[in-house]
Amino acid sequence: MTSMWQWVEDAAAAVRERSGDVPEVAVVLGSGLGDFADAPTDSVSVPYAELPHWPTSSVPGHAGQLVCGNVAGKRVAVLAGRVHFYEGHDLHTVVFATRVMARIGVKNIILTNAAGGINAAFAEGTLMVIDDHINLLGSNPLIGPNDDGFGPRFPDMTEVYSKRLRAMADATGEAKALPVMHGIYAAMHGPSYETPAEVRFLRTIGADAVGMSTAPEAIAARHMGMQVLGISCITNMAAGMRKPLNHAEVMETARRVRGSFISLLEGIIERI
Ligand code: HPA
Repeated sequence: MTSMWQWVEDAAAAVRERSGDVPEVAVVLGSGLGDFADAPTDSVSVPYAELPHWPTSSVPGHAGQLVCGNVAGKRVAVLAGRVHFYEGHDLHTVVFATRVMARIGVKNIILTNAAGGINAAFAEGTLMVIDDHINLLGSNPLIGPNDDGFGPRFPDMTEVYSKRLRAMADATGEAKALPVMHGIYAAMHGPSYETPAEVRFLRTIGADAVGMSTAPEAIAARHMGMQVLGISCITNMAAGMRKPLNHAEVMETARRVRGSFISLLEGIIERI
C-alpha cells in the first residue's frame, strides 16, 4: 500500500462523513464554469481546506469547494475548483480528488474545462463533448509504483470517454435544442498558451481543442473503473486563429455560456 492510498482513504472518510448518500455522479468544474456549484439543492459545501491532504488551487476562477446535493433527482458531488500541472503540482496530486470520488463509490465523473478551439467549425462559446484525448503533458498520473487497490498497472484506454455518456450528452442537446459538437482534446502543460506553430501541429495530429487539464483526471478515473464524460467550453479560438489570448476572455466566454452549460449538465445528470 502506498502513502497515496492512505491519503485518499483519509480524505474519502472525511468526505463520507459530510456528503450524505454516495453521489451517483461527480462533476469537476473548469475555469469560469463555477456557477454550476449553485445548482445542487439540499446541499452541503465543504471547503477543500477542511479535507485532509486535499490540494487547493491558486488560479482565479477555481473556487475550491466540494458541494454535495441533488440535481435533477440525483445525488451529485460538484468539485468547484481543480489543481493543474502548471501550478507545480505533480500529477498524483492533480488526480487526488478524482481518486477520492472513486473511493467513496462514485461511478460516473463529468470533467469540464475551458479550451481553445482548433477545429475551424467551432466558435467562442461552442460546447464540445470530448470523444478522446491526446495527452501531451509529457507525463502520466500513473507513473510510479502501481497501487493495485486503485487499478491495474497497464489500464486500457480504448474508450476513456464513455460512449454511453456521450450519447446522453447528444440526447440532451437535441431535447433542449443546445448545439453540441464533438472532438479530440489535446492536453498541453501550459501555463503559457500555445504558439500558432503548436496549434498547427495540434491540428495536424488530430486535435479539435486544446487545454491544460482533464486528461490526467480522465486517466486516473479510468484506472479506477469510473465512467467518464468530458465537456469542453470553447472559450476562445486557439492561438494564431483570431487574436491574442488572455485569461479574462476565457472567463468572460465561460460566463456567457453558463446558462446552456448548466442546462446541458442538468439534462445529462437526469439521464444518468
Ligand atoms: N489553450 C490552452 N488552454 C486553454 C485555452 C487555449 O487556447 N483556452 C482556455 N484554456
